[in-house]
Amino acid sequence: MSSSVVISGSGLWTPEYSVSNEELVDAYNGYAEQFNLTNKDAINSGEVAAKPFSSAEFIEKASGICSRYTYIKDGILDIHRMRPLIPQRNEDELSDQAEIAIHAAKSALKSANKTADDIDVVIVACAYTQRSYPAIAIEVQEALGIKGFGFDMLVACSAATFALHRAYEMLAAGTAKSVLVVNPELTSPQVNYCDRDSHFIFGDVATAVVVENKETVTSEHAFEILSTKAVTQYSNNIRSNFGYVSRANDSDPFAADKLFHQAGRKVFKEVCPMAAEHITEHLARHQLTSEQVNRWWLHQANINMNTLITRKLLGREPSKQEAPIVLDTYANTASAGSIIAFNLYHQDMQAGDYGLLCSFGAGYSIGSLVLKKL
Ligand code: COA
Repeated sequence: MSSSVVISGSGLWTPEYSVSNEELVDAYNGYAEQFNLTNKDAINSGEVAAKPFSSAEFIEKASGICSRYTYIKDGILDIHRMRPLIPQRNEDELSDQAEIAIHAAKSALKSANKTADDIDVVIVACAYTQRSYPAIAIEVQEALGIKGFGFDMLVACSAATFALHRAYEMLAAGTAKSVLVVNPELTSPQVNYCDRDSHFIFGDVATAVVVENKETVTSEHAFEILSTKAVTQYSNNIRSNFGYVSRANDSDPFAADKLFHQAGRKVFKEVCPMAAEHITEHLARHQLTSEQVNRWWLHQANINMNTLITRKLLGREPSKQEAPIVLDTYANTASAGSIIAFNLYHQDMQAGDYGLLCSFGAGYSIGSLVLKKL
């Protein structure tokens, strides 16, 4: 490798609207009551299952989530709709996802002290893209005036870390001078707000990161990427079946299987040990122990998962400063969660401090980066 590869800046765009657990539960319970009344006979004969009621206390205790941000709030709390109302834009208008990506990208460029001329690759990495082509990344590239190339990549909750791996490899191979990785996580259209088990999990956000060579860094807070590590293992326990073949399947695009669904308990049990083992092995590559890591920017899916993983690694509960949690206000934002934590909690770190950025989620997929403050 010719030069060290560095994260030189990051950006965060937070939507204007938020939905509290209480608001969400009120809407869901109103919908459930209506559903149970309408389907009374079918429920009594055992043909249809009654909708159980949700509770804000359960949600906070089971997940650590108190509130989530949404790109558009209209429609989500309407018990006759139970999904956001996002007006369709014309083909000559900026797409919703490109718009939120650009907000985060501009803030990352500013923090990295870079302009569009300094960037030659744009990667849009997230859990869903709102269309197949042209790539959202190319739309973002055009809107920002970046010369070079861009592409989209989907790896569910690990899209951001996997894109940082690609950026790292391009810099190391000398095929890029500076890469902008953007994560426009527009999750709300895929949430099943009629499902008690998952209606509370996700929020919308956009994050972005600039990756470049150490020689060109001029920003104040830069982190060398010491290495990257990824692993995937096929699992049906977190799944969405919505796709371009749905139309040819003659299947219902509103059916529950077309939206996010999961076997939450199984995910919890299987992913936590996988993530802890992955992180231990990754740190060992640098003869580092968990105690030497000053900051843990972990995936934000569930507070109990993060507590379990860090307890396995450290043998104790980490402090809030060591392993920051953003779930309470942002909820699960798919691949952006660990990047939000990084964005909000890195400025106090000292030169030589180590940090571990790690995602875990659908696939299963786990991605991590060992970082060192310059
Ligand atoms: N309100 C009230 N009660 C609820 C509820 C809600 N919204 N959702 C579920 N419950 C009930 C269940 O029906 C169940 O009742 P029972 O014991 O009478 O059957 C009980 O609460 C426990 O449900 P369970 O699904 O086992 O809860 P949990 O403690 O596993 O928490 C998750 C659910 C989703 C928060 C948790 O499994 C989880 O976070 N898993 C990790 C996976 C993840 O977050 N993936 C995101 C994608 S990366």
